[in-house]
Amino acid sequence: MILEHETILHNRYRIQENLGQGGMGSVYRAVDENLSVDVAVKENLFTTEEYARQFRLEAVILANIRHPNLPRVSDHFVIAGEGQYLVMDFIEGEDLRQRMERLGVLPEDEVILIGAAICDALSYLHARKPPILHRDIKPGNVKISPDGHIFLVDFGLAKIMQGNQATTTGARAMTPGYSLPNNMVLRVPMRVPTFIP
Ligand SMILES: Nc1ncnc2c1ncn2[C@@H]1O[C@H](COP(=O)(O)OP(=O)(O)O)[C@@H](O)[C@H]1O
Ligand SMILES: [Mg+2]
Repeated sequence: MILEHETILHNRYRIQENLGQGGMGSVYRAVDENLSVDVAVKENLFTTEEYARQFRLEAVILANIRHPNLPRVSDHFVIAGEGQYLVMDFIEGEDLRQRMERLGVLPEDEVILIGAAICDALSYLHARKPPILHRDIKPGNVKISPDGHIFLVDFGLAKIMQGNQATTTGARAMTPGYSLPNNMVLRVPMRVPTFIP
């Protein structure tokens, strides 16, 4: 069920618009009525215990990291019988997929800046102890704010490495063409990834 405009969630977040709908729930823009700031509220409707566990992991991972190219998480809560919600900074603007659709081929200096920002976020994640693998790097998960800040979002497939083994996480399928990091970890022969056309 999609939350309607002006719905008050958890006595605090006033829903404004649906930013995107995935298989397990929507992401909304909302106003935090306590602090009067815009937030993004990511929803996970209770589908399976596996998905719920992966979503909790996404919340815990994000709540524990601080990086200029990653959104900050400010809240996580469960509504019994309905779902769980992750509240983070609202990042204004379009994602890289929309930007490429709108502008076609992007200028080289912009591509370098985006690539460098993503690499910076990934280096930070990989240097955590234990390391965090994002595993879903793709244009739809890169947000670019109007003032040019670049953010990597969507830890819905992330894994925490333990020893040489990654912990088991949600069974959600990876995005075709963007599954490289996991294959590298498992040392399965890689296919040439599909890149931006
Ligand atoms: N913090 C945020 N601020 C603004 N928009 C966001 C934020 N997080 C996600 N979004 C938007 O919602 C879309 C879906 O969010 P995402 O976390 O990628 O969910 P899914 O797991 O369904 O892909 C993203 O592509 C992005 O456009
Ligand atoms: Mg996504």
